Formats: sequence, structure tokens, C-alpha cells
Amino acid sequence: MSANPKVPRHIAIIMDGNGRWARQRGLPRIEGHRAGAESVRAAVHAAGEAGVKYLTLYAFSVENWRRPKQEVSGLMRLLVRYLRSEIDELDRNNVRLETIGRLEDLPKSAQRELEEARQRLSKNTGLTLIVALSYGGRTELVDAMRKIAGEVQAGRLRPEQIDEATISGALYTAKFPDPDLLIRTSGEMRLSNFLLWQTSYTEIWITPTLWPDFRKEDFLQALADYRKRERRFGGIEPT
Ligand code: FPP
Repeated sequence: MSANPKVPRHIAIIMDGNGRWARQRGLPRIEGHRAGAESVRAAVHAAGEAGVKYLTLYAFSVENWRRPKQEVSGLMRLLVRYLRSEIDELDRNNVRLETIGRLEDLPKSAQRELEEARQRLSKNTGLTLIVALSYGGRTELVDAMRKIAGEVQAGRLRPEQIDEATISGALYTAKFPDPDLLIRTSGEMRLSNFLLWQTSYTEIWITPTLWPDFRKEDFLQALADYRKRERRFGGIEPT
């Protein structure tokens, strides 16, 4: 595997700190998410410009359903509004759209909007924007295990044939490469059930910046830091 390529092919982002951003300003939490949607716009643009091929955004986790009803419905409306207002710009910028997670849990209106946007952008060849919705890393592994068990039960797969590629191929992310770089905002040092299998060798970059304040400069700083990393994938330094 080639060490330290200049630009990460796949960047995943845990967009954290919207609530704190709002609280610091005495605003309702949804205002933090609204401001966070601006940062999504900036990150998608910066990633496309930098030549990143895949950008995965953790927009709504399986755990997020436990938040107050009003915040959950506000987030769903925000997602629909973002898609409607950004679709032309995404298309102009040659962006494709994909989703990962239990999409069937989402309100029908959001599912419809996502599917329409996905189809409209499907011919594009630039950045693939992957939005994680009703996503959980453990849930994803459960779903993958069920799929594989079904194959075994149907006699199409023998247990001894199961290898890492079988598992990668049964995940929501089967079509995408593993992330090279994981960015997390607002200073928390945890994975929060995000891409548990896929981040085995991913470089992690954490910034204290709250997500609504995250802009192109922060993105470029993450890329600059990534360039300095030595990626060994468990091997030793080349001599
Ligand atoms: C985490 O902040 C953020 C979220 C749970 C939602 C992220 C959603 C957006 C940025 C809105 C739009 C998304 C798209 C793809 C258009 P938090 O609320 O957990 O913050 P806190 O930890 O400070 O409370």
C-alpha cells in the first residue's frame, strides 16, 4: 500500500458541537444545527476543490432518535431544506450523493427527497457525498451479520469462506473505500459508534472548533496535518 498519499481519497467527519455553539449564544439547539448546515456547504465545497473523492458526514446517529421530538423533526426539516436549496449547486460542482444507515427509519418526506437528489446527481463523477442517517456502527455490523447469515442459510456461502472482504462487502459502505482521514470537531476524543469497522487504519484529526464555526481554513489545516502523517498500516517505516 502506498504510504502518505498527498490528498486523502476518503474523508469522514463527525460534525460535533452544534448544541454547544447554540448554548454559548443563548439560542435554541436547532439554531446550532442550522448554522452547522452552512459548515456542511463549506466542507463539501472545500473537499471537491481539494480533489477528495469521498466525503462521509455523520448527520444523524441511531442514538440521536432519543433527542427531544422537536429537535429530531427540526433536523429532518433542515436536511430536506438543505437538499432543496443545494441541489443545483451540488450538480454544478459534479457532486454525487449517497446515504448510509437505516434510511427506512426516516420520515417518508426525507426519504423521498434523498432519493430524488440521489437520482438527479447519479451521473456526476466528482466528489461522492455520503450522508450517514439513522446510522450506527454496531447497527451496521448487526445488519451485515444478518445478511451473511442469510447467505450461509441459503447455502450460497460456507462459514469458512467468510473473510474480511465478505464483511466489508456486507456493510452499508460496500461500494466505498475505507476513510483515510477522520475529522472530529468540538474536541471530543471518541468514535461515537461511527464507521467502527472501516476506521481500523484511518488517521484521526480532532479540532476544538465547534462544527458551526468549521470553515475551509479548518479543512485545509486537517489536510496539511494529514500530509505529515506516516501511514504504515501495521508495517514498518520504508528504508
Ligand atoms: C452534533 O452536534 C450534530 C448533529 C447531531 C447533527 C448534525 C447535523 C447538521 C450539521 C445539520 C445538517 C446536515 C446536513 C447533512 C445538511 P450536537 O448537537 O451533538 O452538539 P453538542 O454535542 O454540542 O450538543
